[in-house]
Amino acid sequence: MDSDYNEINRAVNMKQLYQEEPCILLDEKKIKSLLHCNNLSIALLEKTESTNDYFKDPAHKSKKPAVCIAEMQTQGRGRLGRPWHSPFGQNIYLSLHYPIQKDISKLLGLSLVIALAISKAIDNSCALPELTLVKWPNDIIAQDKKLSGTLIEMEAESHGVSHLIIGIAINVNMEEASKRHITQPWVSLRQLTSSYHDRNPLCAELLNQVLLYLEKFMAEGLAIFIKEWHSKDYLFHRQVSLKSNAAIIKGVGSGINQHGQLILTLPDGSEHAFSSGDTMLMKK
Ligand code: BTN
Repeated sequence: MDSDYNEINRAVNMKQLYQEEPCILLDEKKIKSLLHCNNLSIALLEKTESTNDYFKDPAHKSKKPAVCIAEMQTQGRGRLGRPWHSPFGQNIYLSLHYPIQKDISKLLGLSLVIALAISKAIDNSCALPELTLVKWPNDIIAQDKKLSGTLIEMEAESHGVSHLIIGIAINVNMEEASKRHITQPWVSLRQLTSSYHDRNPLCAELLNQVLLYLEKFMAEGLAIFIKEWHSKDYLFHRQVSLKSNAAIIKGVGSGINQHGQLILTLPDGSEHAFSSGDTMLMKK
């Protein structure tokens, strides 16, 4: 890994020399030095198929939380079976493996809480308290475009232990050339702030916030987060189109309930709660 990294660093320096493009690689020591907990094990990979899949291998599962971060993914996966474009050295692709002693049915609303943690980490890192909003169920939006997404996978075991694999992507310094690979409107932190971002402090802040929010969620459930969701709810009082299975439902975003379901007010004035699907704002 070290010699590979030296090679890559040389390539990166050459790139900077000729194109005046900065590129700071991920650095395990830097990330660890900024973490609030000191026993999180980190696997930092130059390249992997998918950081979520890294934890599908039983050899990589442990009884304590662990994280896999990659400079690039060759088979990055998004929600609903979509591919996730993951070019080298530009963004954050990270999965947190989190073993729990809880029944998976008690985790309603988890994806919303993770979205809030990511939003907080990004806002803190940029010192812009209102930079990001959350879009049900778990996208992070800035300037009406997608900045970050989450893919949460759960595995239950018979003797009470379940495993969460929380995969997070943040568009940090993504280059314009990626445009042709991505079908939905996206934005990067670099575009939002007009400056290049070192991903190391952002990775550490992301892990700090996600671990903190998870700890609170495991102890107290979703109820304590509803107010925060409401303050960042991108869909609230807006015309929303929800694609759930084969159906498309149109209504006005009316917040979430205590189970984390999306509430839509339909054209006839009735309110309905939805548990899954993909949301979009309707064009005016
Ligand atoms: C989405 O569709 O919005 C979710 C995108 C999640 C992508 C991340 S990148 C790290 C982890 N590994 C994957 O293969 N997917 C998630």
